[in-house]
Amino acid sequence: MNEKQRLEGQQVQSINPSDKKSEKDYSKYFETVYTAPSLKDAKKRGKEEVKYHKDFDLPEEFIGLGKGRKFYIRTYGCQMNEHDTEVMAGIFMGLGYQPTDTVEDANVILLNTCAIRENAENKVFGELGHLKHLRKENPDLLIGVCGCMSQEESVVNKILKTYTQVDMIFGTHNIHRLPNILHEAYMSKEMVLEVWSKEGDVIENLPKVRRGNIKAWVNIMYGCDKFCTYCIVPYTRGKERSRRPEDIIQEVRQLAAQGYQEITLLGQNVNAYGKDFKDMTYGLGDLMEAIHKIDIPRIRFTTSHPRDFDDRLIEVLANGGNLVEHIHLPVQSGSNDVLKIMARKYTREQFLELVRKIKDKVPGATFTTDIIVGYPNETEEQFEETLSLYREVGFEAAYTFIYSPREGTPAAKMKDNVPMEVKKERLQRLNALVNELSAEAMKRYQHEVVEVLVEGESKNNPDTLAGYTRKNKLVNFKGPRTAIGKIVKVKVTDAKTWSLTGEIIEEKENLEVS
Ligand code: SAH
Ligand code: SF4
Ligand code: F3S
Repeated sequence: MNEKQRLEGQQVQSINPSDKKSEKDYSKYFETVYTAPSLKDAKKRGKEEVKYHKDFDLPEEFIGLGKGRKFYIRTYGCQMNEHDTEVMAGIFMGLGYQPTDTVEDANVILLNTCAIRENAENKVFGELGHLKHLRKENPDLLIGVCGCMSQEESVVNKILKTYTQVDMIFGTHNIHRLPNILHEAYMSKEMVLEVWSKEGDVIENLPKVRRGNIKAWVNIMYGCDKFCTYCIVPYTRGKERSRRPEDIIQEVRQLAAQGYQEITLLGQNVNAYGKDFKDMTYGLGDLMEAIHKIDIPRIRFTTSHPRDFDDRLIEVLANGGNLVEHIHLPVQSGSNDVLKIMARKYTREQFLELVRKIKDKVPGATFTTDIIVGYPNETEEQFEETLSLYREVGFEAAYTFIYSPREGTPAAKMKDNVPMEVKKERLQRLNALVNELSAEAMKRYQHEVVEVLVEGESKNNPDTLAGYTRKNKLVNFKGPRTAIGKIVKVKVTDAKTWSLTGEIIEEKENLEVS
């Protein structure tokens, strides 16, 4: 059997042999036991080598399945999910489905979910509630739940019990199986459940329909092995698996040839790129050096874990060019005690040293971050250390969160003596600081000329165009629609807390750009 036959031949209704527990739990719902998730299995990290499948094709027997049918995908969560949605859209189109922007018009609705915090999950349950009437009105409609929530037993159980309007649930490792899952859902009266808890192999050549033609995402690795004590991602996305550099470079080259202006290299922990290669020593620095040579104006990467950010990468970033000098570097906390129980495996001092090194070597480097407040038993003093670290680094923006316990993670078992009001109050204080430093950073651009990659009309005002600078600052400005998709120079006339306002300037004026 070759790889292709092996992939296509897998049955939807397979029992995961290592998953006896879920067989027992789920048998009351199904005559046939489907593959169900297990966080316990998802935690395991095997030694076996990752297999690369380079000859993926949509199974021929399912092509045409979507004739006369429309699909709608709602995406929650991070860029990884956004990009998975592009792959699923590619699969739908390959099967003959057409896209639609409205749920009422759709024959298949997928919710591509995020499990990172409780409120992310609640949004999905709310949406499932809203969709119930559509299912009643249209018995041929298929509703599916995929993404990170599908990897959690408790979520799957809740859907089975309460949200019977759902026709299919499939996991993050089962995306390439979408044709088989759809087919099975049309054939079966029961809910189709296919969630592999053990990560799949790396599958190249999956079809993709990208959301725009200006910026594109490129996966460089999948999964995460860091197991920060609060985080569900290592369970929902499996072990770290890097794509081969030649496949990534080829994809970026193709995107450059198609006229894309900006690429974001994606991974949960991109700095661990290549650590799983058994046959060579090749890391993110090497990959960035190769991509630096490709003729595409901007390259970003996300998300960086401070621990694996090595000197080789800094040395490559120092070359500038298409490698932008904006680095998103999640710190989570400024307190060594909290960092320790989070298992981030760096100290405040090490983080500051890394920032100093990057600032030294990469001219004009700016930083943004992620922060969690109200970790179990976080003291006022520890929280203040986060505030002081934020100021010391001079972060220009941050995603800030109240800690949310995730079932199955070590932190969820910790006793917590911090009341919710205190957590909320800390978040407000942190956000005030985030706003203050963002406004300060924006002010520095007042009257300056910036380079903007124009993405389209501004959200709030169709007479205005909007785009981002290399350092990811949003700029709204007056200019011709012909500028969309191009990098233009804009003179900043006004600096707000979260955006800049300006006017496009003539190329021939050739002013200095900051
Ligand atoms: N891989 C990325 C993070 C992905 S999740 C990294 O390590 O940088 C994005 C952010 O969500 C995290 O950086 C963290 O700040 C936040 N987050 C993750 N789990 C959380 C939880 N249980 N409660 C609150 N915030 C959380
Ligand atoms: Fe989660 Fe930590 Fe992995 Fe980021 S590095 S995805 S926070 S476990
Ligand atoms: Fe959410 Fe999964 Fe991304 S939990 S943040 S969608 S990896």
